[in-house]
Amino acid sequence: MNPVPAALGLSATDITGVLEAASLAPSLHNSQPWRFRILPDQIELHADLARSLPATDPEQRELRLSGGAALLNLRLALQAKEVRPLVTLLPNGYRAGVDGSGALAVVRYGGHARQSPELTGLVQAVRTRRTNRRPFIDAPVPVSHRGQLLRAAESERGWLYALSGRDQHAAVRDLVVGAHREQLANPDFLAELAAWTGREGAHWDGVPVSAGGPQPEPQDEWVLRDFTAGRGHIRTAGKDFESEPLIVVLCSFHEGPLAELQAGQALQQVLLTATTLGLSASFLSQAIEVPHIRAKLRRALETTLEPQAILRIGFGSPVPATPRRPVADLLLPQVTPPAHSQFDRSPT
Ligand SMILES: Cc1cc2nc3c(=O)[nH]c(=O)nc-3n(C[C@H](O)[C@H](O)[C@H](O)COP(=O)(O)O)c2cc1C
Repeated sequence: MNPVPAALGLSATDITGVLEAASLAPSLHNSQPWRFRILPDQIELHADLARSLPATDPEQRELRLSGGAALLNLRLALQAKEVRPLVTLLPNGYRAGVDGSGALAVVRYGGHARQSPELTGLVQAVRTRRTNRRPFIDAPVPVSHRGQLLRAAESERGWLYALSGRDQHAAVRDLVVGAHREQLANPDFLAELAAWTGREGAHWDGVPVSAGGPQPEPQDEWVLRDFTAGRGHIRTAGKDFESEPLIVVLCSFHEGPLAELQAGQALQQVLLTATTLGLSASFLSQAIEVPHIRAKLRRALETTLEPQAILRIGFGSPVPATPRRPVADLLLPQVTPPAHSQFDRSPT
């Protein structure tokens, strides 16, 4: 018997597919820190706090970004099934969303969803999007593609800031290097990295060696994390990254859990749009994770916005997928929680 119940007028099989799509979202170290409660008239997204990474993400900001990314996938999957999702963020208030006693989001039936080629493209991209840590082809991202990425962020109330000029690139690169070094000096951070990445054998979560990308080398301009546990997939000496990657900073207009859930949706909309354009992306989260360097990053960008994710974007070659937990593992018991809503939102 399918352990997933029917909901929102969709069958158990459809809801299973919707949850599978949600769980294909990116998450810090592929921790997949989400759970779902399925009730006849609503799907709740909850944080799985047992999967938080306290040394890397002490405020659980990236956990909520990941939750937002899963929510965007869930919305798209419902729309593909002709259900217009009506989303309420933090339905039981800010504190309940943060301490895990309430949902991050509740999704209800909001009417019939129209189909469009754009929706179909994004839904397909949910399955093909991957974090690509390998060197990209040395070809610039066309201006029209940049415009589409910017609009993708805006459509989900985010802002995509593209670095420009040699000085700004150098300033942000130095911040990433500085943050990277600080994190490598923290034994708790290293323990999390070792526990979750460089994995071999059968796992449902974490980053396998096959997807970890190359082992970092001194000549790399942008320091990617070493996800290889010393067993880099590409270890050829002298491998070179592209000379002019597009480096963008996804920002929110506010700070706090609500803004982070929105930023996660904007992040995923950018990543999926990039995928539909044939582009790949990897993350440079170090400079945002270390608080005092994050403050310097805002100054380097000359912005009052809140930086939430730094991405390197370009044309990459195919990379292997990372694993996901089975849907049955993602389900919370079906008890009806008290609900009252603020921040109601349905897609336009
Ligand atoms: C908020 C957030 C921060 C991330 N930071 C990094 C990072 O700094 N370096 C990196 O290589 N990958 C980073 N990732 C990518 C995850 O490792 C990746 O999403 C996960 O392993 C699942 O793989 P997939 O994206 O290919 O599905 C981040 C992902 C999220 C959502």
